Amino acid sequence: MGAVDRRGPSRGAARDGRYLGAAVRIDQIEAEPRLAEAVLRDCASLTPEIDMKWDALQPGPGEWRTGPADGLVAFARQHGLAVRGHTLLWDQSTPAWVRARLERDPGDWSLVADYFKTVLGRYGAFVDEWDVVNEPIDTGVRDNLRATVFRKAYGPDYVARALHEARAHAPHARLVVNDYGFDYDNPVENARRAAFLRLLEDLKARGAPLDGVGVQAHLDLGKGPLKRELLAPFFSRIADLGLGIAITELDVKEHDLRGDVAERDRQVADHVQAYLDIALEQASVTGVTTWGLSDRHSWLQKKPVRPTASPAGLNRGLPYDGALTPKPVYWTIQQAMLDAKASPMLTNR
Ligand code: G3I
Repeated sequence: MGAVDRRGPSRGAARDGRYLGAAVRIDQIEAEPRLAEAVLRDCASLTPEIDMKWDALQPGPGEWRTGPADGLVAFARQHGLAVRGHTLLWDQSTPAWVRARLERDPGDWSLVADYFKTVLGRYGAFVDEWDVVNEPIDTGVRDNLRATVFRKAYGPDYVARALHEARAHAPHARLVVNDYGFDYDNPVENARRAAFLRLLEDLKARGAPLDGVGVQAHLDLGKGPLKRELLAPFFSRIADLGLGIAITELDVKEHDLRGDVAERDRQVADHVQAYLDIALEQASVTGVTTWGLSDRHSWLQKKPVRPTASPAGLNRGLPYDGALTPKPVYWTIQQAMLDAKASPMLTNR
């Protein structure tokens, strides 16, 4: 089977080559028919929220648990949806046994090579875009590279090396580096944008097989307004490097969960509108993925979002509320995708 047409059939409010997608968990889709209906109504692309991470796929050496990822890919294929592969290398989802091995024998690339070979061999035909390295950057550290288990074991070249390894096993997929914290005007995020751009420039200059970037876009109402004068040039500079841009993990952390629900929902919708106005103006933005569909399943519910938040308050930062009723932000996203101007699709390699 060739690369999946990421536009999918006529769903997902995808127009002019841009897709709308969501992070999902196959256990939730199978358990909740209404969630499955929402996925099929809204999404042209699915990202496994958890099931394609290394600790999920290979919890022990020689121990593979591919059931959930297989199920998700089968569901996507059955319904003609694209799949974003998330994620091959991420410090936080590295199994303990891999960490131990790399601490014992830093420099042993065979672990990564074997893992990529197996995973890309199994899913490569059905996954058209991979987050090869997730969250590599940091600021105020050497090379602006986060001190991950991979940075420590392999040195600063590990990102380029991972891209080459991925290309060897996935010749036709788009290969992406995915990161967060680029959205606001504060010293940390201003530095993160600069660090990310430097990493991309370096990877391109060295001929690494990088096709695009993932901009996570975990928005936060507590971090102030979004500024076009900062975000638009950030997107342009990525585009000028010849890279595609996927918005990969869109959601909104609320500032105060105690207020009037209608007002909170309006603020979330307005914030997303402001973000998509800027992002979708950039022709190289290929699509938008929300990090879940329903507030009930959002990772933002796992811990108190703000110390002041009422314990009963659900963060309302995704398209559907906890009862799967669409909220204003749902319609904002739908309309923004419909309004988006034509984007030249990144051609599949
Ligand atoms: O399913 C087990 C459950 O059996 C167990 O009782 C419970 C105890 O902690 O853990 C449950 O698994 C958790 C899983 O979410 C499902 O809730 C894992 O511990 C927890 O680590 C996992 O968190 C996920 C996290 O990535 C780590 O994989 C989040 O759902 C997921 O939203 C989050 O996604 C990340 C992106 O991959 C990268 N960017 C940031 C984003 C948010 O952190």
